[in-house]
Amino acid sequence: MSDCGRKDPGPSQWLQTNVKDIDAAARQLLQTYSGIAPEEVLPRALAIRDQAFALYPWPCIGQMRFLRFSLASYPAYAGVLERLKSQPECMFLDLGCCFGQDIRKLFIDGVQPSQLVGLDLVPEFNKLSYDLFQDVHRLQFEFHARDIMDDGADWGPLERRFDVLHLTSFLHIWNWTGQVKAASRVASFAKPGSVLIGSGMGSRVGGEFPNLERTGTNFRQSEESFRKLWLEVGEKTGTRWQVDKTVFEVMDATRANKDQAWAEPDMGILMFEVARTARRDTIT
Ligand SMILES: C[S@@+](CC[C@H](N)C(=O)[O-])C[C@H]1O[C@@H](n2cnc3c(N)ncnc32)[C@H](O)[C@@H]1O
Repeated sequence: MSDCGRKDPGPSQWLQTNVKDIDAAARQLLQTYSGIAPEEVLPRALAIRDQAFALYPWPCIGQMRFLRFSLASYPAYAGVLERLKSQPECMFLDLGCCFGQDIRKLFIDGVQPSQLVGLDLVPEFNKLSYDLFQDVHRLQFEFHARDIMDDGADWGPLERRFDVLHLTSFLHIWNWTGQVKAASRVASFAKPGSVLIGSGMGSRVGGEFPNLERTGTNFRQSEESFRKLWLEVGEKTGTRWQVDKTVFEVMDATRANKDQAWAEPDMGILMFEVARTARRDTIT
């Protein structure tokens, strides 16, 4: 797990050059859904990765993590999939959707395109995703090229619309103040009764640590600090949030990065499920 929140200022250490294959689930999807011949999968994925990396040399691109289906890996996936399929009026929003891989997975699993919405700072990722997945004639979903921190944007079209919101490797881009701001914006998109699911770089102790771009800090959430975040967001926005589940794990990717300048001994990944409760809201 890593960060791709801002442009890497220096010559990039993040471009993985010895890629021998891609994630097995992504390979299968590119062969069966996108109809790409098995021997073409890796060259196509790498060619598109290189185009995206030339635009934005971020770790998640360089290290091929734009081909992970994170949402489907969470325990809550079966429940949210059922909710979206059985209630066609339910809406899904992917925050920092990057190549829209999690949106593709929901579509393939039976969710209607009209229920699927993505938001990302970088519109080129969405365009390149159609070159990768070869599905422009099958899947048109609502996409917003927006900076979540932009106070001047018209957020009206997204407010209080969503039942399921996905935030993988998103909030950890910012320090505490930035996360409160970003999460408060996300809160304004959520309906009462909605759920937020995701994960991000965390720390067993929680706190500000040097970010990967060496431009400042990012806050790495512990289970305890994450609850405080949603209390603060609730107070700031007049909404109420219940952190239903958090799981802190040290993963292989975390161990592999233990010698990086931004590493610290307590870092790991925090997976979360948060519900917007319907009671005592001042915003409805
Ligand atoms: C680490 S990537 C995670 C992508 C995807 N959720 C995943 O799990 O693979 C973070 C994404 O957030 C987007 N992003 C970064 N800063 C943003 C901002 N200020 N507003 C909206 N999106 C942003 C990036 O363009 C990138 O696609």
